[in-house]
This record gives sequence, structure tokens and C-alpha cells, in this order.
Amino acid sequence: MEYSIRPMRTEDIPQVAEIERESFPTSWPSTPFKRELSNRLARYLVACVPLLGDTPGDAVIERTTAMPPALLSRILTGLRRLFGSAPRKSRPATDLIVGYVGIWFMTDEAHITSIAVHEEYRRMGLGDLLMLAAVELSMARKARLMTLEARVSNVGAHALYEKYGYRKVGLRKSYYMDNKEDAVIMSTDPIMSPGYQVLYSSLLDAFRERRGEAVWTLA
Ligand SMILES: CC(C)(COP(=O)(O)OP(=O)(O)OC[C@H]1O[C@@H](n2cnc3c(N)ncnc32)[C@H](O)[C@@H]1OP(=O)(O)O)[C@@H](O)C(=O)NCCC(=O)NCCS
Repeated sequence: MEYSIRPMRTEDIPQVAEIERESFPTSWPSTPFKRELSNRLARYLVACVPLLGDTPGDAVIERTTAMPPALLSRILTGLRRLFGSAPRKSRPATDLIVGYVGIWFMTDEAHITSIAVHEEYRRMGLGDLLMLAAVELSMARKARLMTLEARVSNVGAHALYEKYGYRKVGLRKSYYMDNKEDAVIMSTDPIMSPGYQVLYSSLLDAFRERRGEAVWTLA
């Protein structure tokens, strides 16, 4: 797969915030990503593809001949999103960010606070890649199990979570402020248990067979 996973950086915030806005348009307040990046209990990972060259313009020129047209067009779309408006004063982004996952590590639990993929990049395996990396990070941090909450209506997300061994363990009534929708609470089995390890290995193998190597840097 041409996309890889790495920890989120400050210069990624505008792109991640945009993915959050389009993915959760009714969520308020938005995530304070800058503060979250210095929260020692939180870890954010992004799925990205590099923009080569010193400036985004150079990147496109350098890669025009070598890059597959579909990838070039996606990068151009990303650049238009990024630089179409007024120039930013902050350090420029070096990567095109296409998705992110946030995890809070609390006691022995790894709690997925948010996961989203830019809508133009969905159903390409990026949700899988982010989930695989989140499990890998949780194992490295010695979390016992993984948990999350999801809107009862979010059937696509439920399918993703169930694929990764999450089961419904409870309900939070009227949890979401915008429409008072209930949240399902989901949890995995202990992630170091033999059963979960077998599931994880089979998901990783299946990903590699279908999408190519899974590449990540977790710290
Ligand atoms: C949920 C989300 C992150 C999935 O990302 P994605 O990159 O499209 O997911 P993938 O292509 O990697 O799919 C992985 C698995 O997720 C499930 N899945 C993803 N989208 C689905 C959909 N629309 N309907 C049914 N299953 C879906 C499938 O099980 C799929 O595995 P498969 O390809 O073997 O069928 C993405 O749809 C998204 O960003 N949604 C908006 C934000 C959101 O709702 N986040 C969850 C909040 S609780």
C-alpha cells in the first residue's frame, strides 16, 4: 500500500482537523488537537503519503512523470485543499494526511477516541491500516484490552470494529449531544489472549495479501 502510518505532528493539525470536520459535521466542540499532542495519555496516528520536494509545487513537478495518475490526482486534490486559500504561517505539511486515529491509554485500557478517513479515500483499506496500527501500538503499550463508543446508527464503523474483534458490551443512552443518539460501548477480548492474537495475525495477513505491506512507525 502506498500509504503508511506514523505519529501525528503539529503540522498535520490543519489536515486532521479538516478530516474531523467533514467526518463528524455535527460534533461539537472539535478536538483540541494541539493540546492532545502533548497529552501523555493520548496518542494520535495518521495515515499519510509523502509530498516530495521542498515546496508542494516542486513535489508535484518532480513526481509528475513517475507517479501513477490516480495518486497524482489525489495529491493534487490534497494540495488544493491545503494551499488553495491564504498561505499558512505555520510549518508547511510534508505529507498528505488521509486519515487518523486517536487512542487514550487509561489504566489497562486502550480507548479509541476517534477514527476517520477522508471521504475521498474510504473503502481502500485505510480504516484497516489504522486499526491494525492501533492494535499494534496498544500491544506495545501493554494495554489489556481495547474499547470505544460508536453511534448506534454508524453501521459502517460497527462493521470495521467487529472485524477487529470488538463486541457490544453496553449502551450509553442519549450520549451524543446533537441528536441525543445512544452510543454503543464496544470492547475487545484481552489483546494478548491467544484468541485475539490469532485474530490479529489473520487480519494482518489478510491485509498484506489484499493491499500489500502494512508500513507503520508508532513512536
Ligand atoms: C469508519 C471509517 C473510518 C472506515 O474507513 P475505511 O478506510 O473506509 O475502511 P476500510 O476500507 O479499511 O474498510 C475496513 C472494514 O471496515 C468495514 N467497513 C468500512 N466501511 C464500511 C461501510 N460503509 N459499510 C460496511 N462496512 C464498512 C468493512 O468491514 C471493511 O472490511 P472489508 O473491506 O473486508 O469489507 C470511515 O468510513 C470513516 O471515516 N467514517 C466517518 C467517520 C466515522 O464514522 N468514524 C467512526 C466513528 S465511531
